[in-house]
Amino acid sequence: MSKVLVISGHPNLDSSYTNKVILKQAENNVHDIQVRRLDTLYPDFRIDVEAEQQALLEADVVVLQFPFYWYSIPALLKKWIDDVFSYNFACGSKGDKLKGKDFLLSFTIGGPSESYDPLGYNHFSIEQLLMPLQQTAYLAGMNFQKPLYSHGMVFIPGVYNTQEGVEAKALEHSNMLVSRINALVDSTENRVKKLVKAWFEKFDVLPETGDYFVESLSKDVTWIAPEGEFKGHAGFNDWYQTVRGVFKPDCQHIVENVQVFENEGDIKAELRIRLIADTFSGESINLLVNEKWDLVDVDSKLVITRYLVEPVQG
Ligand SMILES: Cc1cc2nc3c(=O)[nH]c(=O)nc-3n(C[C@H](O)[C@H](O)[C@H](O)COP(=O)(O)O)c2cc1C
Repeated sequence: MSKVLVISGHPNLDSSYTNKVILKQAENNVHDIQVRRLDTLYPDFRIDVEAEQQALLEADVVVLQFPFYWYSIPALLKKWIDDVFSYNFACGSKGDKLKGKDFLLSFTIGGPSESYDPLGYNHFSIEQLLMPLQQTAYLAGMNFQKPLYSHGMVFIPGVYNTQEGVEAKALEHSNMLVSRINALVDSTENRVKKLVKAWFEKFDVLPETGDYFVESLSKDVTWIAPEGEFKGHAGFNDWYQTVRGVFKPDCQHIVENVQVFENEGDIKAELRIRLIADTFSGESINLLVNEKWDLVDVDSKLVITRYLVEPVQG
């Protein structure tokens, strides 16, 4: 995972001087990035909600890239939010699909910095003007990141700035954007989520040996499951072979929730996993479990020191 999704909200990117440069740089310098240009995808404003939601589901980091228009986002980007952040997707009792994803606003502003001040002609700070978007992210359970914006980005020949000047500022903006995105991708939270995803994809297959899993387990791991408590790699392998004897391969582990907590080098993950599987004795299982993982970072590799699986009661 750790996929980066950039939604370009410029209504006509071909006529852009700055957003065009920023998007190109991001595309060339960020690994595993998808840029969706709303102006070419939806010139008629008819958003393909399913396609947009699918792109969001696959992303860890969501960036909205846009020019600041009338103290807000361009109409096409607003329409995108209106349609895509729907009930039971982004909000509502089942609307947790965006929960935990990073949300970064990256945008270009025509007016100078000093105008966005109580004594300036724009009166309000950029942060104040962004509050509806900040609250939108909060309601969707997303991690609202400190916005990234650059002033003085308007080029009107003979009136404001030079093309070279705004393009140079756009390059500076894109360098900051690339480092902000890379820092998010490398965050502990996203690294744990990446491990969780790969881990359960492997568990779906139930390979012959537990070697893949052992690579991420500390030598003296404590493994606590409904089947009992197991210690170290040998203990894990015993448990693994027992489980392989019960469940048929090609089962399904659905990661319903992941929460990551970090405190002075101690990393904890709390997961909710649904297991859908067939057993060799002919049963069909649909089981919900809570998992608690303790992890440490050893030479930039995440290692699990304690692994607890508890079936959800009721
Ligand atoms: C319709 C429209 C509304 C704009 N509203 C604002 C605004 O509210 N505040 C501001 O500082 N600049 C405003 N601008 C200037 C744009 O922010 C600026 O042209 C844009 O960021 C440049 O991006 P581009 O080179 O990618 O087109 C506006 C421009 C347009 C065309």
